[in-house]
Amino acid sequence: AAPPLPPDAAFPYPLRVPGEEGLYGVAEVSGALALTAKAVQHELLPGRPARLLAYELEHQGKVLRNPVLRVRTGARLRAKFWNALGEPSIIHWHGLKVDSNNDGHPHYAVAAGATYDYQFLVANRAATYWYHAHPHGATGRQIYLGLAGLLIVEDEEELALRKALDLGFGATDIPLVLQDLRLDSGGQPIFAPDATERFHGHFGGEVVVNLTPRPHLDVETRLYRFRVLNASNARLYRLAFRRGTRLLDYHVIGTDGGLLDRPRAVEEAFVSPGERLDLLLDLRAARPGDEVVVASLPFDAMHLETGGGAGHGAQHAASAPVLPDGAELALLKLRVARRIAYDRPLPQTLSRLEPVAESTASPRLVALDQAGRMTWRINAATYEQAATPIAVRRGSVEHWDLRNIAPSMPHPVHLHGFPFRVLAREASPAQQRRLAVDQNGLAASDLGWKDTVLVWPGETVRIAVDFTHPFPGDQVYLVHCHNLEHEDGGMMLNVRVAG
Ligand code: C2O
Ligand code: CU
Ligand code: CU
Repeated sequence: AAPPLPPDAAFPYPLRVPGEEGLYGVAEVSGALALTAKAVQHELLPGRPARLLAYELEHQGKVLRNPVLRVRTGARLRAKFWNALGEPSIIHWHGLKVDSNNDGHPHYAVAAGATYDYQFLVANRAATYWYHAHPHGATGRQIYLGLAGLLIVEDEEELALRKALDLGFGATDIPLVLQDLRLDSGGQPIFAPDATERFHGHFGGEVVVNLTPRPHLDVETRLYRFRVLNASNARLYRLAFRRGTRLLDYHVIGTDGGLLDRPRAVEEAFVSPGERLDLLLDLRAARPGDEVVVASLPFDAMHLETGGGAGHGAQHAASAPVLPDGAELALLKLRVARRIAYDRPLPQTLSRLEPVAESTASPRLVALDQAGRMTWRINAATYEQAATPIAVRRGSVEHWDLRNIAPSMPHPVHLHGFPFRVLAREASPAQQRRLAVDQNGLAASDLGWKDTVLVWPGETVRIAVDFTHPFPGDQVYLVHCHNLEHEDGGMMLNVRVAG
């Protein structure tokens, strides 16, 4: 065996990966689950227990926190949510095709001490989905403090891919949950957005990956799969792999709703809050001792076209520094520990993507704008629980033009209940346009089935949504910005699908 690598001053902490218990413990879903949302102590930094929130699951005699739930397409998921927080909450299954009773719409938030029962068929194709808190007005704080976990759906195609590439979940198939936290000098997370931060979004001073600050991961010379989830409140990442000054190619193999038709080689991709990026990194040519940094490259954050990102770090300097949005970041260091023989080729094809359904109706405009530099709106409205400003017919296929009216900010637009396809990007800023892989301006991260799509200031993104569903009666879902401060501030509308 190779000698252990020496400690790394800049990336001192081993990345937490899903295992059998504890944080991100893996639970194969069978039978009924009981998920308890509660306050926990968790050592973000060794020896400094931080007050966080987590979903706790007792599973086969073990205690898991924010468990990675693994379930087969076609299985039933039965879960009892017990709210042991001191405030209302509800679990939303982000990306799943469920009826509104099971969606975790904030309308169903339960009081402190109460429970909510979920029971639904998992109809989605294999992909990395996630679950998180969704009580209106407090979604940002609750996710920030820890109420988010992964839900991995598997099917035959997915299992075949893992077998072909000899991928082991938690070892060579690794989720990377990205969040940026603001920690005080005692290592406690701070969440107290002022008016500017409620408008721009809450940005932290430390990026944690799988709730590990400054992490490293020791790797071998083979293919690795990373399932990236941006669970940050407001921060975008321009994801790249850097060896020294060189960017490494990587292959996007899937997005929010599962595998693409074939791998797409890229050097970088934007991942906005709520989105997932499933990718392969080829380390076969690496040598022991090599180091690869998983980075976010600098970009123009386009906050109200002032360019400078959050920009209000200074006023918080006393409590904790803030990394500006768009700043260059080193997220994780991969250290090549040893050479192994690995001869699995990169797959040529991945999945057969169903074609986009045809639509004859003219596109529906979904305009994103602001009222007086204080409030973000969708179609000039903010969220009202009783209103359903967007009504669609069950079974219809609609094209939506998501238009972000400048001056503005990037808005990751998320639709509940119905995975969609991105058809085109128009009037994209240069940093997005240069990533286009087709004549419609789509980037690799726009391909396949999506549930969240980034819309830059000035841009219009056309999506196609098939509102077919098997549930009886009217169903009410949501469209909202997944910048959680925008969402909590009301950049969210009910979408009624008339039965
Ligand atoms: Cu992940 Cu309504 O959100
Ligand atoms: Cu969602
Ligand atoms: Cu937004």
